[in-house]
Amino acid sequence: MGKCTSCGEWNTYVEEVVSKPTAKQLPGDQQRQPELLVDVQVDSQPRIEVGIHELHRLLGGGLVPGSLTLVGGEPGIGKSTLLLQLANELKGQVLYVSGEESAAQIKLRADRLPQANPNCYVLAETQLIKILNHAEKIKPDLLIIDSIQTLHSDDLDSAPGSISQIRTCTSDLLRYAKSTGVPVFLIGHITKDGALAGPKVLEHMVDTVLQFEGDRNHVYRILRAVKNRFGSTNELAIFQMDQSGLREVSNPSEILISNRDAHLSGVAIAASIEGVRPLLIETQALVSSAVYGTPQRSSTGFDLRRLSMLLAVLEKRCGFRLGAKDVFLNMAGGIKVDDPATDLAVVSAILSSNEDFPIDPGTCFAAEVGLSGEIRPVNRVEQRIREAQKIGFERIIVSSYSVKGLDLKQFDIQVIAVRKIEEVFNELFG
Ligand code: TYD
Ligand code: MG
Repeated sequence: MGKCTSCGEWNTYVEEVVSKPTAKQLPGDQQRQPELLVDVQVDSQPRIEVGIHELHRLLGGGLVPGSLTLVGGEPGIGKSTLLLQLANELKGQVLYVSGEESAAQIKLRADRLPQANPNCYVLAETQLIKILNHAEKIKPDLLIIDSIQTLHSDDLDSAPGSISQIRTCTSDLLRYAKSTGVPVFLIGHITKDGALAGPKVLEHMVDTVLQFEGDRNHVYRILRAVKNRFGSTNELAIFQMDQSGLREVSNPSEILISNRDAHLSGVAIAASIEGVRPLLIETQALVSSAVYGTPQRSSTGFDLRRLSMLLAVLEKRCGFRLGAKDVFLNMAGGIKVDDPATDLAVVSAILSSNEDFPIDPGTCFAAEVGLSGEIRPVNRVEQRIREAQKIGFERIIVSSYSVKGLDLKQFDIQVIAVRKIEEVFNELFG
C-alpha cells in the first residue's frame, strides 16, 4: 500500500511482521539434552539483591535467577506500586510491561516514588510474542508483567484473561525465565472470594506466590509468601502505603498493638509467630446479649469454626453461659492468623468482654486451648517470650507443658504457666 487512506500521505506505511511463532522457536529457547544428575553443573548464581529489604526477606533472601513469581491481591492494594518500586530499587536493567496503564501513567506513578532507576524500561503492550521479542533485545535483569490477565498469545483465539490464555502465556513466560535466567514477576488479579483468578495450575507453574492480604481500607498492607520454592512460606512483610509509595514497617509488633495505655475490656495480646518471626497481635472481642433469636458469631482474621469450638469449650467445660450471646472477634490491623497459639488470647479477650473487665495491658498470651479446656503447649515458646519481653510486656501466660525444662530465671518477664482455663480466669480476674 503506497498511500495512507486516513491521512493521505505517501510511503508512511511500515511493515511489521506478525508471524505466528511455532512452539519450537520462542525467543530465548535453546536445545536441551538429558544429562546425568551426578554430572549436572551447578553454576552457583548468586541471588539478586532486592532493594526493598522486607521483600528481600520474604523471597527467602533475594531473587533467584530464572524464577517466576506471582503477586496477587485486591485491586488498589498496591501490586503495581510494589513492583514499580522493586524496578526502581533494583541495580540493573528492568523491563516493566503494563497491559493496564500507558507509559505516561506509569511515569506519573514512578514520579511519586522515592527512588528512580535510570535503566528501567516501560512498555505498554499485551501481546506476549512482542513482549518476549522486546525482552530478547533489551536483555533485562528483571521482567515485570502487569498483569497476566491482560496478556494474550496469538496461538489461541480465546479472549485475554481466559483460562487457556493465562495458562499459555504463563507457560511461555516460564520457558523464557528458565532458558534465559531472567527472573519474571507476574501480577495476578484475584476473584471476589480472594483466590487468585485463573486456573489453579497457575499457582503450580510459578515458583513463588506472594499475596497481599486484607483490603485496601487498612493502613497496613500485609504481603505473605503463600508458596515459595526458594524459601519458607508463611513469612510475611508489612508495608504502609503513604504519599511516596509503600514504606516498610520494620517493627510490626508495635504497630499491631493499638493503644496499650487505655484499659479496655475485650482486648488481649497474642504472642504469635508468623513464619520465623515472632509477632504480637491484638485480638479484640465483643460479647453482648443477642437481640434477635439466633446469636451471631462473626470473626475477622480468625477461623470462624475455631471460634465456635473455643466458645463451645468455654460453655461446656468452664460453665460460661455464652450460648445466648453474640460474639464478634477481630484481629487488629487486618491480619489473618492461623497460629494455634492465638487461642488463649482469643479466649481471654472473650472472657474479658463477657465480664466487662479489662485485662492488665502488660499481659500477653501464647498457648493453644484444647477441647477439654486444657492449655496446650505451642512451638518455639522461648522466642515468643523474648519478643514479648522486647516489646515491654510484664507477664506472659503460657502452658505449663511449654516451659518444662526451661530456665525461667533467664527472662526479665514474668512467665505464668497454667494448665486449665480456670487458672487463667483466676489469674486475670480472680
Ligand atoms: P496500585 O498499586 O495501582 O494497586 P493495584 O496495582 O494493586 O491495583 O494502587 C495502590 C493505591 O495506592 C492507589 O489507590 C493509589 C495509592 N498510592 C498511594 O497512596 N501512594 C503512592 O505513592 C502511590 C504510587 C499510590
Ligand atoms: Mg495495578
